[in-house]
Amino acid sequence: MSRLTSELDRALEERAAKGLRRDRHLVDSAQGARLRVDGRELLHFGSNDYLGLAGDRRVVAAAQAGAARYGVGAGASHLISGHFAPHDAIERDLAAWVAPCAKARALLFSTGYLANLAIVTALVGRGDAVFADKLNHACLNDAALLSRADFVRYAHGDVEALAKRLASSGAHRKLIATDAVFSMDGDIAALASLLELAEKYDAWLVVDDAHGFGVLGDRSAADGGNSGRGTLAQLGLASERIVYMATLGKAAGVAGAFVAAHDSVIETLIQTARSYIFTTAAPPMLSCALAASLALIRDEPERRVHLFALIDRWRDAATALAWLTLPSATAIQPLILGANAEALRVSDALWDRDIWVPAIRPPTVPQGSARLRITFSASHSLDDVDLLAEALADVAR
Ligand SMILES: Cc1ncc(COP(=O)(O)O)c(C=O)c1O
Repeated sequence: MSRLTSELDRALEERAAKGLRRDRHLVDSAQGARLRVDGRELLHFGSNDYLGLAGDRRVVAAAQAGAARYGVGAGASHLISGHFAPHDAIERDLAAWVAPCAKARALLFSTGYLANLAIVTALVGRGDAVFADKLNHACLNDAALLSRADFVRYAHGDVEALAKRLASSGAHRKLIATDAVFSMDGDIAALASLLELAEKYDAWLVVDDAHGFGVLGDRSAADGGNSGRGTLAQLGLASERIVYMATLGKAAGVAGAFVAAHDSVIETLIQTARSYIFTTAAPPMLSCALAASLALIRDEPERRVHLFALIDRWRDAATALAWLTLPSATAIQPLILGANAEALRVSDALWDRDIWVPAIRPPTVPQGSARLRITFSASHSLDDVDLLAEALADVAR
């Protein structure tokens, strides 16, 4: 064995000794409340399929019809010959629906990771500064590092700290980047205050709504549902300074992401963003599937009504548990266990009871805050929530 491979093996052993080894489980069924995993049937609380659309037969049928018409691959990047009619239709639809500002356009990406890399590297560079919440998703951080702008992080949710850093910055261009719904905590960023600061300090505001799009939105239906248009819509915010990104592999149940922003921003991304230009376009059949899932997001607000009923039921039940919950009003409901070993113990004990909630450990979350990231989906029933709460009470004893 070479020195290089033995160094790798030593580092891997060290990770394992710290409780940081990660293993993949084999899923052999469509997404849903129950999954076939490693040959077993498990009740599952670990996906971002918040509306239960990933396995919906109408979305699957639209993908099949799209594959029959367009094949399974785009064949090239968007700027060469891979930009298809279904891509264009989804972009127009999303721009008009999400409308983060007047004259908005939308642009599709193969993943949210690539979309965030594109936004930040296209808008700032050397001599500029990115101001980022400490709990932002890793890909926003990677985007900031790749841009070569100064990378200034502020304590989670601390708007005053951000204001001070903006005030003392001599950067030419400034960009504030934030998750809208924080992916591991489930809380919602103070976007109205961040937008005020962006106005005051002439900065961009990049909003990553991976976990809000499809789930949150402005009040729409008489039955208490919301529109699913996302966090900006819920807070009633729009501005030319906002660059909105949402992923399409979570509540929308398919894959990919889009950026919605002013025409000038979108044209800049098309012309200059390397993670847009130098990658093969997502298969057009996925845009066909997305057209079906966006229709369901709009036409079936009852999915969100049910999801929020599940969340309420869980929050009531969780008060009786020994562990700390966070003040989240979204489908992400973490249970903080602290030590990595304790998070693994509880996750394993649930697994033994046919319930799957993955343990989340550093570096995904800060040291000492290992957790179960419990997520709810419209495909769960109220009884499923009760089963989880009972199993956790049992495991705590
Ligand atoms: C907040 C946030 N942004 C971006 C991403 C990346 O999106 P994608 O999985 O489409 O690359 C994720 C999760 O995957 C996320 O949680």
